Amino acid sequence: MNEVAEATTTCNYRQYVEELQRTGSTLIPAGVVFSDQEITRLEELQAQIPEETVTHGDAGDKHAIYVRRIMVDRAGELPSTVNRPCSDGIIDILSGGQRPECLAALFQSQDPFHIRRCQMNRMIAGSFVGVHLDAASNPDYEYSIIVQLGRDFTGGAFVVYADNGEQSSYMASYGSVLVTTCKYRHEVSKVLSGERNSLVYFYSRHAGVNRRSQ
Ligand SMILES: [Fe+2]
Repeated sequence: MNEVAEATTTCNYRQYVEELQRTGSTLIPAGVVFSDQEITRLEELQAQIPEETVTHGDAGDKHAIYVRRIMVDRAGELPSTVNRPCSDGIIDILSGGQRPECLAALFQSQDPFHIRRCQMNRMIAGSFVGVHLDAASNPDYEYSIIVQLGRDFTGGAFVVYADNGEQSSYMASYGSVLVTTCKYRHEVSKVLSGERNSLVYFYSRHAGVNRRSQ
């Protein structure tokens, strides 16, 4: 058995690997990627980071989304961790435990993947994120991971538009992990009630400066 096949078995991710390869996305239920204790700790750490109001998002949205920054990835620069030390604690959890083996299984690759950008996005009723491509932020983003830390919200579906015209819609619940390729356009539909609070981070094989032109 080669290393990737072994990791797939170790992490028991076979069904998610298959779905990720077939549709470009997969929603992994709570308790698989992160333990309950890790999710609780992520929630505690992010709550200590100051929140910014963003009114012009990646998709040109004009309504407010509330953002807590953990790692930023600016054009022409190397990624950098901000709001330390809470952000260090978050990155340690994201990169710790069996995650490297499990990522290798999910991505079906032994190449090193690097977190380049990481932030909390809090959306309230009426907020949405329009259709966009993550490559607009960094052409080297390969996968985004979205850990759902919101409870009791309605709406806010993550909708992916594959190149073959297929559309997949995911309703994430607390503690679940959505993994999606950055190749496809996607959006977050309008949050109807409650708060959708998600930890979003991007993986890339590219470890150098952000090659976005500006
Ligand atoms: Fe996105």
